[in-house]
Amino acid sequence: MDHQLADFTATAGTRSNHLGHWDDPDRVDPGVDVRIAQERLDEIVLEMADVRDAHRVLDVGCGFGGTMLALDRRLHGAELLGLDVDHRQLVTDRCLSPGRPNRFHWLCGDGSRLPVRSSSVDRIVSIEALWHVPSREQFLQEAARVLVPGGRVAVVDILVQPGAGSVVGVDDLTVEAELSSTFDPWPEVFGSVDQLEERAVAAGLRPLGHVDATRQTAPTYLDHGDAHRRPGDAAFAGSAGVRMFVALHLAGALRVVYASFERPRG
Ligand SMILES: C[S@@+](CC[C@H](N)C(=O)[O-])C[C@H]1O[C@@H](n2cnc3c(N)ncnc32)[C@H](O)[C@@H]1O
Repeated sequence: MDHQLADFTATAGTRSNHLGHWDDPDRVDPGVDVRIAQERLDEIVLEMADVRDAHRVLDVGCGFGGTMLALDRRLHGAELLGLDVDHRQLVTDRCLSPGRPNRFHWLCGDGSRLPVRSSSVDRIVSIEALWHVPSREQFLQEAARVLVPGGRVAVVDILVQPGAGSVVGVDDLTVEAELSSTFDPWPEVFGSVDQLEERAVAAGLRPLGHVDATRQTAPTYLDHGDAHRRPGDAAFAGSAGVRMFVALHLAGALRVVYASFERPRG
């Protein structure tokens, strides 16, 4: 996670550390700030989670708090819990708490062992963190445990399709090794949305639907005025893992999926 801290310092505090979303990826204005597209992704996930005023909302893998701020802009009288395994990011988050319409709490913990009471959370959101947790099954079981009956969880997951290597001319072991070397930890690289939904059902959650946003998130790599930081630029010093991630994404062999689930009542 060191590169994330370095990036955060270098960009003077961009708090969203996730892809952008363009509703029409065929009509992207390169002059538009990528941050607007990141806010759009937050907005879509918060809609899928159906967050409401006065809810107790848990953001798993909250990072630098971008989604917590999006929740704060949208809600009143809510209790917002930001959880991350990386205490260094949480240190930068604590200054965000005072004087807001909602109560903030910051928790250091692992997405597969949530330090939260059972049946105590109305909504869970988790943007691009699920692929890092030690086990998706355990995350989903924990979500089912801590949500109130009728509560919802909305996630953004990154799923590499089995056989993806052939799309970029290498074998799947190379894909796995390169991605894991940069995006460590990434315990389970290959998967599908069907598998994710089956696991959710096994954990006691009901799938509410999903969106494949692979195309809508791909313009993240275009020049949005900060080309030297983007993989398409000649001066970009991205690692082999980043280059692999981008190549798979642009080829559609890496799927960006937004999915939501409910803990059924009764
Ligand atoms: C790609 S960043 C996304 C951060 C944030 N959700 C956002 O959208 O800006 C992934 C985050 O997951 C966190 N993370 C990694 N492993 C985790 C785990 N086991 N439990 C909770 N968070 C984890 C990282 O520290 C990082 O902040």
